[in-house]
Amino acid sequence: MKDVEPQAVLSPITEAAILLTLVVEPGAEDEVRGALSEMSGLKRSVGFRLPEGELTCVVGIGADAWDRLFRLPHPAGLHPFRALAGAQHHAPATPGDLFFHLRAHRLDLCFELAQRLTERLAGHARVVDEVHGFRSFDERDLLGFVDGTENPEGASASTAVLIDAEDEPANAGGSYVVVQKYVHDLGAWDALPVEQQERAIGRTKLSDIEMPDDVKPPNSHVALNTIVDDDGNERQIMRYNMPFGAVGTREFGTYFIGYAATPDVIERMLSNMFIGNPPGTYDRILDFSTALTGNLFFVPTIGFLDDPPEPGAGSSQSAAVAEHDESLGIGNLDG
Ligand code: HEM
Repeated sequence: MKDVEPQAVLSPITEAAILLTLVVEPGAEDEVRGALSEMSGLKRSVGFRLPEGELTCVVGIGADAWDRLFRLPHPAGLHPFRALAGAQHHAPATPGDLFFHLRAHRLDLCFELAQRLTERLAGHARVVDEVHGFRSFDERDLLGFVDGTENPEGASASTAVLIDAEDEPANAGGSYVVVQKYVHDLGAWDALPVEQQERAIGRTKLSDIEMPDDVKPPNSHVALNTIVDDDGNERQIMRYNMPFGAVGTREFGTYFIGYAATPDVIERMLSNMFIGNPPGTYDRILDFSTALTGNLFFVPTIGFLDDPPEPGAGSSQSAAVAEHDESLGIGNLDG
């Protein structure tokens, strides 16, 4: 039976995280596939030395890399990140084949694992984005607001994040993750009176209480990110945002990390934020925060990662992929 054990997607927010995005070098697909199967072992080698540090590692795979590494049909929701161009603000799509979400109570554990896994991938995959995130006190982001309050808990969290066997049998236990690196214009933000900051977020700053619906502005972050389905049920995602920055260069950021069982819910949120709902009513946060990166990754189960299928592993669907590639002149480099 196929292993449906999820990766450590739902571990609690930790004090430290390292977020690595890599691109796979041309021709290095076999090596990278082999390296992926060693990731659980590397995590154990580092994490076992300090169990109370609760080191975890989640690996995500982008759409292009999926084709190159496995030549299997795509998981239903996997496609390249869709860039968005609103009237005022843009969400760019940036390169990324692999994503590593390393979390622990101490940065040294994340750093050691980041070293070990990039050593293993050296010459085969290259880091194109690296962020060292920290937990700020009160769980506040660098805008000064508590971030993460409305994350689902318990069974609701699993339902929101893990693919259900009924929806996608081949990928049950997997997940999707969208990441974006934002930098804030803190000077402009801090010049806003607190009442206006609260109207931008939709919650009070000190006590973190949500504003009543009749007071909350339609362009507030919370209003635009509250998504309800046709039956009136709220559609949730799990966010593990991390603050990061560098005081010398006045870089102040939030690294957005959102997991969901299907990316369309996150894509609706992004559309609401950047295009607006209705169009033009875009997220007020974006007047102060700029998205520099954007990626979507599929997060396979532990079983898939530990024993990744060889390319075209014996399915009629992979034959169809190969046929399709052939018609596009892809593959068969030996001629
Ligand atoms: C600059 C980047 C961002 C910052 C600083 C930020 C900050 C916040 C804060 C302070 C809250 C209120 C407290 C909470 O419930 O967590 C919040 C809520 C939320 N954010 Fe963000 N966020 C950012 C980007 C995003 C993005 C890109 C998405 C989705 C694509 C998103 C989705 C949500 C959701 C779903 C909620 C909860 C809404 C509710 O049900 O009340 N956020 N965010």
